[in-house]
Amino acid sequence: TADKAPPRKGDVLVHAEAAKEGQPIRPSEVTERGVPAWPMSADGVIRKGEPNNQLAVYRFERSRFQEPAEQEPRVVLKLDGITADGVIAYSNKCTHAGCPVPNDEKDLSKLFCGCHSGQYDLLQGCKKIGGPPPRSMPQLPITLENDRLVVTETFVTAPFGFLNEQDWETYLQ
Ligand code: FES
Repeated sequence: TADKAPPRKGDVLVHAEAAKEGQPIRPSEVTERGVPAWPMSADGVIRKGEPNNQLAVYRFERSRFQEPAEQEPRVVLKLDGITADGVIAYSNKCTHAGCPVPNDEKDLSKLFCGCHSGQYDLLQGCKKIGGPPPRSMPQLPITLENDRLVVTETFVTAPFGFLNEQDWETYLQ
């Protein structure tokens, strides 16, 4: 069903927080501190039936993003999937055991997972930089259309919970 489908091209990112759930996120509402988000289909279905669709969006000066230095094969940063004013979307389920991951209070450009101290760098493709997570957090490429954040393609790599190619292919169908 549509609520369990992965994010698709044309979906709009909407607030996940209960008080504003379903309202499109405006870029002006986004800061370095993440805004929790869900993808919503063009016909208004919030895709929250699939926990792997749990996202957060962040905004940094575009010039601060850096290509990740090669370290592990599944780190990807799609520069054309960051809006002109620097809004970027990533999965928000830790790739270790699936906890939601907030910003690191000491440096908002990093994430710090309270479950087992996993760390990620938001400016380098959400690369894992510490702790037990096996890989980076997937990026969801977006663009800006009429002050809305619109998905341009699905996740760059498989989100948490897809341990083999076949599960991932099935999810994408
Ligand atoms: Fe995040 Fe374990 S769930 S480090």
